[in-house]
Amino acid sequence: MMTDSVLIKNARLVNEGQLSDGDLLVRDGRIAKIASSISAEGGTRILDAAGACLLPGMIDDQVHFREPGLTHKAGIWSESRAAVAGGITSFMEMPNTLPPTVTLSALEDKYAAAAQKSLANYAFYLGATNDNLDVIRALPRGTACGIKIFMGASTGNMLVDNEDTLAGIFRDAPVLIATHCESTPLINQQLKTALEKYGRDIPLTEHPRIRNAEACYRSSVLAIELARAHDAQLHILHLSTAREMELFAAGPIEGKNITAEVCIHFLHFNSDDYARLGNRIKCNPAIKSAADQQALLRALKDDRLDIIATDHAPHTVEEKASSDYLEAPAGLPLVQDALLATLELHHDGILSLQEIVRKTAHNVATRFGVVDRGFLREGYWADLVLVDTAQTTPVTPERVLSKCGWSPFEGRTFRSRILSTLVNGQLAWHEGQIVEHSAAARLSFL
Ligand code: DOR
Repeated sequence: MMTDSVLIKNARLVNEGQLSDGDLLVRDGRIAKIASSISAEGGTRILDAAGACLLPGMIDDQVHFREPGLTHKAGIWSESRAAVAGGITSFMEMPNTLPPTVTLSALEDKYAAAAQKSLANYAFYLGATNDNLDVIRALPRGTACGIKIFMGASTGNMLVDNEDTLAGIFRDAPVLIATHCESTPLINQQLKTALEKYGRDIPLTEHPRIRNAEACYRSSVLAIELARAHDAQLHILHLSTAREMELFAAGPIEGKNITAEVCIHFLHFNSDDYARLGNRIKCNPAIKSAADQQALLRALKDDRLDIIATDHAPHTVEEKASSDYLEAPAGLPLVQDALLATLELHHDGILSLQEIVRKTAHNVATRFGVVDRGFLREGYWADLVLVDTAQTTPVTPERVLSKCGWSPFEGRTFRSRILSTLVNGQLAWHEGQIVEHSAAARLSFL
């Protein structure tokens, strides 16, 4: 495949709880050597990190790239470019496309498209429905990163609410189950009350009341009960409330059967931001109170929250501009900003660089059983990101690579900069430019 050698010199390596100064040699797409000093052989390209931090690339276990069927919003090519610009080297993509990814052939169509278009490594979820249990049971190993169950309805109407089907999935799923947890019956009841009060002019500030903490809690409790009853591997996506944090165990991810994820927006925004950002931060689950935000940050610190992901969910500016609460779509684009936003927590003294790497790379690789990625280890694929925590990145619309062309962080200046991203040893982002390449690969799973 690739023969290029790259020698990264004078880096501060952030890996497996350690910070160390040294060099890293990439050969044939993999990490050939890590040492305090490596001398270059002829033909090797040298990147002088000049003290910048070298991290394993972020593995984002939750993105919506909208292909096929919703490509006016986004596509695999555009969003994977945004991802590598943001230091994400692998992504796992959600099934609420058109058609939804609920059959083996729909899954394989996505892999075929990604093989042509993606700049980052890729895997796809098989979506659960009320009637595709046979497809789930027969899923060949390695075909999907997980089974996605919408245990609460969201974009794409893929709600699974048949009790027998849910029990069957938790009993028989051959791979990890990833759930969206929000109680749809409770949400519908609260929506009805809001409609009675406001008609269709429901203010956005009602969103976290309609999709409230109780709705999240009920559904997360159900998912955990099902996982315990059937000894399943459960990963609960995008947790958003303080109350749900009591459901998870603190401690390292190894050996956990039930794991918890938080997404960028819940760490950086709270309900006070609706006035300023409006529908741009409308998403499901809803962004909740400042107290919830603080509780999530604490749970991240004590390892009740294991993984940081994006739930990158682009919608166009026009769609987001709808003044009708029911029409305005939920979701926001995040892949390009995710790592930089997480590094803000480092600048604020909340998370160490080692903790950030654990939540964005090590733990994701461990939880999903991703083969040979997510760590700086000799023999592993060279999925790398070089980050300067002393240079800044102003967030302007011109910088946005996602097809939708906007970022919820516009106007902010991040206190770090992504200098280079390598995917399987190939530069994909360097000196502020995308480097088009075809080295991205399908993720393999243990
Ligand atoms: O806000 C959201 N947007 N939540 C979801 O569950 C789906 C996503 C989307 O696909 O737009």
